[in-house]
This record gives sequence, C-alpha cells and structure tokens, in this order.
Amino acid sequence: MIQSIRGMKDILPQEMRYWRHLEHTARAVLEGYGYREIRLPIVEQTELFARAIGAATDIVEKEMYTFADRNGDSLTLRPEGTAGCVRAAIEHGLLHNQTHRLWYGGPMFRHERPQKGRYRQFYQIGVEVFGYAGPDIDAELILMTARLWRRLGINDLTLQINSLGSAGARAAYRGELVRYFSAHETGLDEDSRRRLHANPLRILDSKNPAMQSLIEAAPRLSNHLDAESQAHFSALCKQLDAAGVRYQINPRLVRGLDYYNRTVFEWTTERLGAQGAVCAGGRYDGLVEQIGGRATPAVGFAMGLERLAALLMENDAALQGAEPHAYLVTVGEAAERQSVILAEQLRDALPALRLLVHCGGGGFKSQLKHADKSGARFALILGDEEAAAGEISVKYLREDIMQTRMPQAKLAGFLSLHIT
Ligand code: HAM
Repeated sequence: MIQSIRGMKDILPQEMRYWRHLEHTARAVLEGYGYREIRLPIVEQTELFARAIGAATDIVEKEMYTFADRNGDSLTLRPEGTAGCVRAAIEHGLLHNQTHRLWYGGPMFRHERPQKGRYRQFYQIGVEVFGYAGPDIDAELILMTARLWRRLGINDLTLQINSLGSAGARAAYRGELVRYFSAHETGLDEDSRRRLHANPLRILDSKNPAMQSLIEAAPRLSNHLDAESQAHFSALCKQLDAAGVRYQINPRLVRGLDYYNRTVFEWTTERLGAQGAVCAGGRYDGLVEQIGGRATPAVGFAMGLERLAALLMENDAALQGAEPHAYLVTVGEAAERQSVILAEQLRDALPALRLLVHCGGGGFKSQLKHADKSGARFALILGDEEAAAGEISVKYLREDIMQTRMPQAKLAGFLSLHIT
C-alpha cells in the first residue's frame, strides 16, 4: 500500500476544527493590529535560502528539500517564510521609504528527524515587519502573540528573550567563543566540534548534558553587547514590564537561523516534550541588504501550527461551537421529498445555520442515534404525518425539555433564536 511520506501527516476532519479555530483566531488578532496578508510561493531559488538562513546552519546544511527542475535550476521547498517574504518585498519595491506589517501562512518543509511535534512538512503562520528600527515594534509583536494565546485559552507558555547585539558585537563575541571552546575542545561532542568554526554560537544551544557545565562557563554575549543594542533591549524589557508580560532573559537563546541581530524571542511550552517552541522570531536588520535590497530594519516571528493545535486539542478549547445546530431526520416517502426543500429554505433564511440532513436511509431510531452522535442540539423530525400537516417536530437532544411541534414556516424563526 502506498503510504504518506515520513514526517508528512494528514490532518483529519476531527482535527480540522482545532486548526480552523487557530487560523481564524490568529487572523483576527493579527488583522486587529493592522497586519496585512501576503501569499508567497512554496518554491524559491535555492540560493535565496542559502544566503538568508546561512550556509552553516542545520537547515541549509542538511534539511532542505532541494531539487533541479526541468530546466536544471536548483529550487528548494521553503523551509521557512522570512527569506521569501524579504525577496518579495524587495522585488515589489515595498521597502522604499515605507513601513509594512505583513503576515503569511502555509506549509514549510525541513528534512529533520520526525518525532512528536516535529514534522518534515509543517505549517506556520508568520509575521514580518519592515521599516521600524525601534524596540516599540518588538514589544508590539510580543504583546500581539500574548493576546493570541489569551484568545486561544493557552495560558501556560513561557516567554524567553535575549539580545544578540549588532553584527559587529556579535562578530567580536564569536571570536571570543571560538577561542574559549578551542581551548576546551576535548569537552565538545562531535556536532559541536563541527560547529566550532562555522557557527560557534549554536554550540550554546546544545542540549547534550555532558557539555552543560562547559557552556555555562562560556563567555556571555550580554557582556559584549554594543551600547545601542543594550539600550534597545532594556527599552523592550521596560515596555514588557509596563504591559505586564512576564519573560525570562535567556542568554543562551541564539536561534537556529543566522539572520538575527538584537532582539530574539521564543514562546515555549512544557506540554509537548522536546519540541517545546511554539512561536519564535526576532530582529533581522541586516537581511534585506544581504539579499540585495536597500538596508531596512526588520523583525518578525513564526508559530508552528501543529504544536499549537496539539495544545488546543489537549485543552479542548475549540470544541464548542463546531457541532451542527440541527440534524434533520426524515421518515416516510412524502417527508423525504419535502426534507431537501425544507433544508434548502432554512439555509437560505439562516446563512449561519449548521444543518446536517440525514442521508443513507434507516429507520427513525437509527437516524436519531446519528443525530445524537453528530453533537447537534436539535433533531428536526419530519415524518409523513408532519409533512401532511406542513409541520415539524423539534426534539431537544441535550436538554431535558419537551419535544415541540410547530408549522414549518416558523422553524427558521425558532432556530434563529438558538444559533450563535
Ligand atoms: P523557526 O524557529 O525555525 O523560525 O520556526 C518557527 C516555529 O515553527 C517554531 O517555533 C516551531 O513552532 C515551528 N517549527 C519549526 N520547525 C518545525 C518542524 N519541523 N515541525 C513542526 N513545527 C516546526 C522561523 O522559521 C523564522 N522564519 C521565524 C521568523 C520570522 N523570524 C523572523 N521572522
């Protein structure tokens, strides 16, 4: 049997209600802050990602889905959205003396080792902001995500923040890290030895317990921050304090993509095991220029929808409201003929109505069982007797209220009082 590709999962109808709730709520919150949607291609030139994300990162080194197309051009399925968004902003002249608050969503592809919460095709909703250099917009992004978690009823996320400083400060720090880790090279695992010269900051990210004391004693980036980055970071912290957003400063938060400078942040949960980051991002003031545009300050984040959907499923927060309002049960020939017309009339009259019409035959009892299983609040019962009288019976499936019978013409009015 042909099966799905490892790490690429189907999202089944029973999960979709959580996804839709998540996507709908995210869109509402982002648009409430004035962010506008942009849709970007899933495939880009390979070189874009190599230049943007960094040749020495895990993503570019070993996780990209890269292939030659029929013309022999090297293309890559996007492993993330920032590079493509920057490419599009430059290409369409969005960056000339303008500011933009943008958001996007869609699938991303990374050939990582699949495990719970980590897939090879996964969905992100991301935000990219162009043209603002100050910490006010960094704070806005964090407040906006905090609001989204509140709206979603996800209350147990932790916010970690750090500053990576300016490119210059980071380069100086990097030199010092290489010196430090070179002096202790025997204490490094194979992965970290490989990173030592190419990407030493990533060693700080290592989860290897044997290396923790070495990492703990490593020089701190916070001691090497340039004055401007320090001022930027403390202004951000003050804004978060003033807004009552709790955070931890994590000096070891360096992120896995090379384009960041100054503010970086991550929202994490303890509920998903090792893959705890549900939303992450930061400032990348040098990237636009690096891709060939005019120097433009920029900041953004992306959230992983599989991980957030998993939290919602645990909370069951989205469950309410997705069931049908009513389930139409029909018994008898005359009733069956009427039922389709009646259902169509109800849908015309009440566009928000979620109505399931029983299909597939079966007796009254079995149809009622289906009605109950659907989660609907009402069974609308149309038997031949009701059909002849132009009436309908309404049975409450969830409440201890007596069944009532009413003219079909009054049904839309009745239901309108009960749908939200
Ligand atoms: P990232 O940290 O690589 O950043 O990914 C952001 C989020 O996507 C992660 O926190 C996680 O929730 C989710 N994610 C990443 N990889 C996987 C995976 N294999 N399976 C499931 N979920 C995953 C970025 O992608 C940056 N472009 C964020 C950004 C935007 N920075 C500035 N602007």
